[in-house]
Amino acid sequence: MHFATRAIHVHQDSDPLTGALIAPIYQTSTYEQESPGVNLGFDYSRTNNPTRQRLEQVLAGLEGVEHCAVFASGLAAEHAILHACLKPRDQVIVPRDVYGGTYRLLTRVFAGYELTITPVDTSDLTAVEAAISSQTRLVWLESPTNPRLIVSDISAIAALAHASGALVVVDNTFATPVYQQPFSLGADIVVHSVTKYLAGHSDLIQGAALAREAAIFEPIKFLQNAIGAVPAPLDCWLTLRGIKTLELRMQRHAENASRIAGALRTHPAVTQVYYPGFGGMVSFELAGTLQDVTTFVSSRRLFALGESLGGVKSLLCHPARMTHASIPADRRAALGLSETLIRLSPGIEHADDLIADLVEGLNAVRAADRALATA
Ligand SMILES: Cc1ncc(COP(=O)(O)O)c(C=O)c1O
Repeated sequence: MHFATRAIHVHQDSDPLTGALIAPIYQTSTYEQESPGVNLGFDYSRTNNPTRQRLEQVLAGLEGVEHCAVFASGLAAEHAILHACLKPRDQVIVPRDVYGGTYRLLTRVFAGYELTITPVDTSDLTAVEAAISSQTRLVWLESPTNPRLIVSDISAIAALAHASGALVVVDNTFATPVYQQPFSLGADIVVHSVTKYLAGHSDLIQGAALAREAAIFEPIKFLQNAIGAVPAPLDCWLTLRGIKTLELRMQRHAENASRIAGALRTHPAVTQVYYPGFGGMVSFELAGTLQDVTTFVSSRRLFALGESLGGVKSLLCHPARMTHASIPADRRAALGLSETLIRLSPGIEHADDLIADLVEGLNAVRAADRALATA
């Protein structure tokens, strides 16, 4: 069955009690039991909830495995994965420009573990191979990366990691299962900030952790209940609703991103465009000053200035002062995150309108610089 059909039908049967075409929101904390321990499979909503369970089944189906646990945020899912997999003094390999929240978890929340964190350019297989050691427990991948959108060879890295007994985790937030199914490439664990494309409407925070094998998944599932960072039934239902249009939305996001990348490439106020050829994100270097960047990002009519990405409404951000501000400036420079890099998350509006909005801003930057040069 094709992805678009699976997203609407697999684990999406009508409600067996009422025939409701769309599963109801089980907005309940607890469940009446027939006698102690005798129940209909649910006893307390931190442990399990029918709406949440349905979402877990649907996400597992889309990533092609059986095991999924959803969490109150992407970082809560990451925390459970790290807690379940790591022991003190393990080595973790991460992309050089790994998401800052992941880096903060590893270096601060797990500070007592005395982990060896090894940032590597994961698009360079030789560098990955050189970094892997007998201490390596996890190779953590983001592909494409944020905000430079660098792609890594998951299959080749999985082969290298497995040869050393390490597990491969792929943060599939940017690509989504529409464009990349990491388990088919050898990943052991997949994590999502569901907040982004999966939910897709910028109206909730949520995460998911999926695993290929029960032995890897069981400790993660245990932590979901034991720590209790679970999402509310309504949010799970909203994600179920979002997933039904995931493929359609991704097609439009990608079409818009690709057309925008083309338009930016020909504009004199742009020196570099980053677009990996698929997916919904596009970044670019503005030929201008920091003041030009500020004016540009603050005055778009259709791109709202904000953190996050992956929603139907277009967003843009200035990573150096927003999403990546916590990285020291010299390290940002070493990572190729310049002060004039702008990240776009085009929504599903019409590409012509989005391009017109961007070009208007770019023309203004160009005109201001010309005026300055002739003054
Ligand atoms: C690639 C990536 N992974 C994980 C996260 C964390 O997810 P959340 O914000 O849902 O906790 C983010 C958030 O921006 C992200 O961009």
